Amino acid sequence: MTAEPLLTSSLPSDLDTERLPRHVAVIMDGNGRWAQQRGLPRIMGHRRGVDTLKKLLRTCSDWGVMALTAYAFSTENWGRPLEEVDFLMTLFERVLRQELAEMMEEGVRIQFVGNLQSLPASLQTEIDKAVQQTRHNPGIRFTVATNYGGRQEIVQACRAIAKQVQQGKVALEDIDESMFAHHLYTAGLDDPDLLIRTSGEMRISNFLLWQLAYAELYVTDALWPDFNTLEFHQALCAYQKRHRRFGKV
Ligand code: FPP
Repeated sequence: MTAEPLLTSSLPSDLDTERLPRHVAVIMDGNGRWAQQRGLPRIMGHRRGVDTLKKLLRTCSDWGVMALTAYAFSTENWGRPLEEVDFLMTLFERVLRQELAEMMEEGVRIQFVGNLQSLPASLQTEIDKAVQQTRHNPGIRFTVATNYGGRQEIVQACRAIAKQVQQGKVALEDIDESMFAHHLYTAGLDDPDLLIRTSGEMRISNFLLWQLAYAELYVTDALWPDFNTLEFHQALCAYQKRHRRFGKV
């Protein structure tokens, strides 16, 4: 494990403010393995994972990244053992309740993307409360993907548009990329510039399939609970060395 460096809260001097990713997305993988390597139950990895996410959110905010999106629970994650799913739902709820005051203090604007109606009612209540209370905050935009699946998101957008066509409200020629993007959960949020995935897996796992079209991908072997400020700094250095061409020459 890499030692946490003594960094100040401001952007490290080797990073260029002008070329920071505006929006960073993260696939927080490796919580279970982190715990198992220590002979702990998997849920301890998720608990530590929350601390990592909190620190990353603060670092992004301090360094001038405008938006952070985290993949907290995928539509496929319901297939995990019931105790683990229950633990995660309770954890999300508790974290939201405990962190709301601090998010208000730090100006964080939180939002959720995914099929939220299938989440436990008590979690939906905490989500609504946090989203409503923070909606006018001026700071970093923090998006949590919960019960999220990229394919499911695209299908629901298609259905919504098809319905409007059926009702004669929209003509086929009106459907373009921008209109389609407005029917995704992420409507109004710029696409991520950088996707970070921990624990070495080279996959995007049904995350933001539409929105990641031109994102730079960065994969680190660090397990999510070990993804510290130094690791994030390295990810940003790698990002700043890339030449983004968006399909052009
Ligand atoms: C993947 O690791 C991690 C998850 C499925 C859960 C991530 C959730 C958090 C870190 C909590 C976030 C909290 C809020 C409120 C947003 P894994 O279990 O797949 O690890 P493994 O690949 O080692 O098994």
